[in-house]
Amino acid sequence: MATINIDRLEHKRQLLQSSLDSAKTAAERNRLGQFATPNLLAIEITRYIATMIDDDEINFADPSIGTGSFFSAALTILGRARIKSAIGVELDSDFSSSANNLWREVGLQVITGDFTELVEKSSSLTSPNLLLANPPYVRHHHLSRDDKKRLQRLVQRLVGVDVNGLAGLYVYFLLLATYWMADNGYAAWLIPSEFMDVNYGASLKQFLTSQVTLIRVHRFSPDDIQFGDALVSSAVLIFRKTQPPVNHAAEFTFGGTLSDPETKEQVALNRLQESRKWTAYPNLPQDERSNISEGTGITLANYFRIQRGIATGDNKFFIIEQDEAIRRGFPRNCIRPILPSPRHLKETVIKPDCDGFPLTNPRLCVIDCDLPEHVVEKRYPKLWEYLVSADSLGVKDGYLVSKRNPWYQQEKREPPMFLCTYMGRGTQERKPFRFIWNQTNAIATNLYLMLYPVKSLQRMLVNHPERAEEVYKILCLVTGNELRGEGRVYGGGLHKIEPKELGRISALPFVEQWPELQMDGIKQKMLFE
Ligand SMILES: C[S@@+](CC[C@H](N)C(=O)[O-])C[C@H]1O[C@@H](n2cnc3c(N)ncnc32)[C@H](O)[C@@H]1O
Repeated sequence: MATINIDRLEHKRQLLQSSLDSAKTAAERNRLGQFATPNLLAIEITRYIATMIDDDEINFADPSIGTGSFFSAALTILGRARIKSAIGVELDSDFSSSANNLWREVGLQVITGDFTELVEKSSSLTSPNLLLANPPYVRHHHLSRDDKKRLQRLVQRLVGVDVNGLAGLYVYFLLLATYWMADNGYAAWLIPSEFMDVNYGASLKQFLTSQVTLIRVHRFSPDDIQFGDALVSSAVLIFRKTQPPVNHAAEFTFGGTLSDPETKEQVALNRLQESRKWTAYPNLPQDERSNISEGTGITLANYFRIQRGIATGDNKFFIIEQDEAIRRGFPRNCIRPILPSPRHLKETVIKPDCDGFPLTNPRLCVIDCDLPEHVVEKRYPKLWEYLVSADSLGVKDGYLVSKRNPWYQQEKREPPMFLCTYMGRGTQERKPFRFIWNQTNAIATNLYLMLYPVKSLQRMLVNHPERAEEVYKILCLVTGNELRGEGRVYGGGLHKIEPKELGRISALPFVEQWPELQMDGIKQKMLFE
C-alpha cells in the first residue's frame, strides 16, 4: 500500500471546508446544521477515546461526516493500518463528494443520504466499533411535523425510547447511531450541552445512564471561542455500548480542554439518574457557577423580577390578625393583607376572599400607612392609640423603624403572583424551598422571595391569564438539587436562597412550553433561529 500523507490530505480538507462554507449562506448552513469540528478538537477527542479501545481492528463510522474532520483525526491517531473499515454518511452531496474524493483512496466509504433513513437498512453495513460524531444541530422547529413524527416512531421502534417533540435532530442521531453500533464499541459525540438541563433531554439522559456505559461528559465553557460561528454551548460525551456495571460512576468535567479541564468530578449513575440538571456537575465553587449560569442562557431572572418580601422592623407589632384590626377599628386604607410565615402557611395555592384577602389560617394584615402622624391622630384615633403604644414597647428604637418616615410606612411592594420561601431544609429530592401561587392581594415578609412576571412572560399572562397555572407548575418542577445548587447552606443543613441566586435557575422549560417567550430570554447569540 502506498504511504499516505495525512497532513497533506488534512490541509486539503481544510481548504475544501472553507470554500464549501463560504459558498453557503448562514441560513443554508443552519438548515443542515453544518458546523465542522475544528481538526485539533477532533484529534483531542480521538486521542482520548483511543486510550480505551483494545480492539486491534477498528470499524470506524461518522453518521454525518461533512468533509471528514473526524476521519482525518482517526487516521492521525490510530493509523491507517488499524482501520479495517470506515463509513461516512452525509446528506449534502457537496460535502459527500468532497469527502469521497479526499478520503476514498485511504479507505473511507462515503454514502450520500439521510442517516436517519439509512439506519433502518444498516444491517447491510458493517456495525462500527468506533463512532465519532458531530451531528447536525437542527432545532426541533426546523424539523417538519412529518419528519418529527417519523423520527419519533423510528427511535421508539428501534431503540425503545420516547423522544420529546422539543428535541433537536442531534438527539435522534445519537440514539439511532448507537443502535447501529457494534456491542462493546466506543462512541464520542460533540453535541449541544442543552439536553443536560432541559425537559426534552430527560429520555436521552435516561438512555445514557441505563443503556450504555457513560464514561465522560466534558462541558466546554460557554465563553470558549473554539467553535467560531456555531455558538451553542457544547459538550463531548464518551460512552461504550454496553450495560453499565453496578456502582458505575461517570467523569464530569468542565472548562479548559478535554485533556486538561478546569474541574472534574466522578458522579455515580444513581445520582445522575436523580438529577434533572446535569450542568450541576462537576460541582463548582459558587462564583464560577454564577458565571456559568449567566453565560449559558435563559434563566428565571429573564422572566421574573425577584425581590425579598418586606422587612417590617417588628413583625409582632406591625402584623396582626385581620379580625383584630377590624375589632380595633383600623381603617382599611392603613392595613394590607400579608401571608403568614412559611411555617404557618399550609397552602401552596392561595385563594382570595371577595376582598382579595387570602383565605389562610391565620388571616393576617400589616399596618402600612404613609400619612403623617398628626393626620393619623386626627383622622384615625383608634389606629393612633395603637401606634402610640410603640413607644413603651421600644418599637421605634429598632434600626429599620428609626430610619423610616413616617416610621409605620412599609416598603412599597405590589402583591406578587408567585413566591418562593426563603429558607428551609431538605436533602435529595426533598426541596428546601416551596413555590407558592398567590391569587390574592397579599404581600409577604422577607421570609419569602416575591416573583413578579416581567417582559414577554408578563405580556403573555395579560393575554392568557389562564396560563398562570402552567407557569406555576413549571416553577414547581425546579428540583431540590437546582435550588440547593444555587442557594447556600448554613451549619445544620439550613438552606437559604437570595433573589439573584433564584434568578440563575434555568428557565428553559418556559421556552419549551411557549417558544414565543424566547425573544426576551436570550443573551447568547442564537444562530439557529
Ligand atoms: C455539525 S456538521 C459536522 C460535520 C463533520 N462530522 C465534522 O465533524 O466536521 C453536521 C453534518 O451533518 C450533515 N447532515 C445534516 N443532516 C443530515 C442527515 N440527515 N444525514 C446525514 N448527514 C446530515 C450536514 O450536511 C453536516 O455536514
